[in-house]
Amino acid sequence: MKTQQAFWDKAAARYAKAPIRDEASYQKKLATTQTYFRPDWRVLEFGCGTGSTALIHAPHVSHILATDISGNMIEIAQGKAQAAGIENVRFERGTLDSLALEPGSFDAVLGLNILHLLDDVKGTIARVHSLLKPGGIFVSSSVMMAEIPWYWRMLIPVAQLVGLAPNIARFSKNGLVKMLTDAGFSIDHEWQPGKMSVFIVAKKSV
Ligand SMILES: C[S@@+](CC[C@H](N)C(=O)[O-])C[C@H]1O[C@@H](n2cnc3c(N)ncnc32)[C@H](O)[C@@H]1O
Repeated sequence: MKTQQAFWDKAAARYAKAPIRDEASYQKKLATTQTYFRPDWRVLEFGCGTGSTALIHAPHVSHILATDISGNMIEIAQGKAQAAGIENVRFERGTLDSLALEPGSFDAVLGLNILHLLDDVKGTIARVHSLLKPGGIFVSSSVMMAEIPWYWRMLIPVAQLVGLAPNIARFSKNGLVKMLTDAGFSIDHEWQPGKMSVFIVAKKSV
């Protein structure tokens, strides 16, 4: 966990400056997510990075708790919120396990570009399920490492050895859908912006 934190702390400044790789897909995911939001919703985002998405969603809900393992990411996010005068987003450093979060207290949980970076994807999905209110939604956007060409996959352990790549979990779209449905979610919306990525809105039953 400490190594992950160090990796992302080091990456934070560069990550903040990097342009969005596929702006059209990003806008589509934002718009789809906002069709679910209600003005009184309480939202949790984990792995929020430098906070851009939480700050865009802020006017559409009552409150967002946006969290990240990296203190440097959180510091940048807090600076952006202050500069934009946005007061209904609280940024906090931590993970879903380290933070004291009340079960059944969120209307939506966002996990964007994060599930494939975790050691325990199944455990995380179960934790998200427990944090949601009945009928709440889990919005995720993930890279499917199982779909990455073999020659790229072979390079990953080498890149990890020299600190150029984070921890990476390998699952397919069907594998992810199975983990979600096994945890008690139903799939409400599914979209593949490309061969190697999937955007899913999963719902906890009422
Ligand atoms: C690829 S970035 C995605 C950031 C943001 N969600 C986005 O879509 O731009 C992954 C983020 O997850 C954070 N992260 C990695 N492992 C984590 C964990 N176990 N718990 C919380 N955050 C984590 C990293 O610090 C980093 O900010």
